[in-house]
Amino acid sequence: METKHWTVSQQSFDKKAMEEAAALLKKGEAVAFPTETVYGLGADATNEQAVRKIFEAKGRPSDNPLIVHVAEKEQLKDLVEEVPAVAYKLLEAFSPGPITLILKSKGAVAPNVSAGLDSIGIRIPSHPVGLRLLREVALPIAAPSANISGRPSPTKAEHVAHDLDGRIAGIMDGGPTGIGLESTVVDCTEAVPVILRPGGVTAEAIQEVIGTVMVDPGLAGGEKEKPKAPGMKYTHYAPEAPLYLVEKGMQQHADKLTEAGEKVGIIATEELAQTLQSEQIQICGTRRDLSTVAEHLYDALRHFKRSDVSVILCESFDKHGVGAAIMNRLEKAATGRIGAEGNVNW
Ligand code: TXA
Ligand code: MG
Repeated sequence: METKHWTVSQQSFDKKAMEEAAALLKKGEAVAFPTETVYGLGADATNEQAVRKIFEAKGRPSDNPLIVHVAEKEQLKDLVEEVPAVAYKLLEAFSPGPITLILKSKGAVAPNVSAGLDSIGIRIPSHPVGLRLLREVALPIAAPSANISGRPSPTKAEHVAHDLDGRIAGIMDGGPTGIGLESTVVDCTEAVPVILRPGGVTAEAIQEVIGTVMVDPGLAGGEKEKPKAPGMKYTHYAPEAPLYLVEKGMQQHADKLTEAGEKVGIIATEELAQTLQSEQIQICGTRRDLSTVAEHLYDALRHFKRSDVSVILCESFDKHGVGAAIMNRLEKAATGRIGAEGNVNW
């Protein structure tokens, strides 16, 4: 399949590109577009055949439900049974923005969107280009991240093209995404909302708005608890070489591995990078502002190629604020961690 490419500026938009992309979506094709978190691969959520194209292009397991994207809050009434008071507060506070609310589904979308669940994830993205496209198409659009399943999510159109060129109808380039990690998924079908996936909106910010929020115990990776967001159980965000999270002593660990014949790539913040000697360092932001690490993390994970490195060492972060989402993704991407004592854990 020939993939159509458009480049759309956030200021002027491009009417023709918007119309072409919207026409392809209405016709039941899959089109990638920018959101403020990561690029999404969209298709008409009411069209089962169109939604199937998303699963096929990504190689995504069919038991993993898709988030439905809309432009306006008013569109929710066609899609969900009710918007509980807490969900409404979250909508008012954070939408449009990097949050997805799980609500009781009205059953208006194709069955393969929700993978058999009676709930539905809804998100209003704030990226001007993505939002404009959603307005133009005026349909609920199912959209997972626009990457091959298991690979890091795309934060640039070139990441999408690398994974999906020739497999989808179009890619709309609206520049780098900004936030860099996927939306926070909050289950609002329970009396007390539960964070199923940490993301762009922090637990602390949610707590400020609604008082109490719980965190899915399955996120801690315990044996007994299965994560409630089906997607959280799969291998994700995997770079081309095995990745280890390093708590302390980055230089010593890199030296030891190099002596043992490994080709080591390092992902580090500016602050740590300044203290290191290595030719293979990819900087992923600054420790002073972890949102910069979120922004550059997936690009850094995609940076090292198997031909250049045999192992990747990545700096580790505290799990508060946006650090919780960063570590959630890194722990999924990692083969193991090298603890403060130098012990390797899987
Ligand atoms: O920022 C984002 O959320 C991006 C952009 C494109 O909007 N989308 C995204 O979609 O990350 P995806 O498919 O990669 O991740 C969706 C997550 C999965 O973990 C999935 O299991 C969960 O949301 N999810 C979707 N619908 C659900 C539902 N009804 N109940 C529980 N979890 C659900
Ligand atoms: Mg994804």
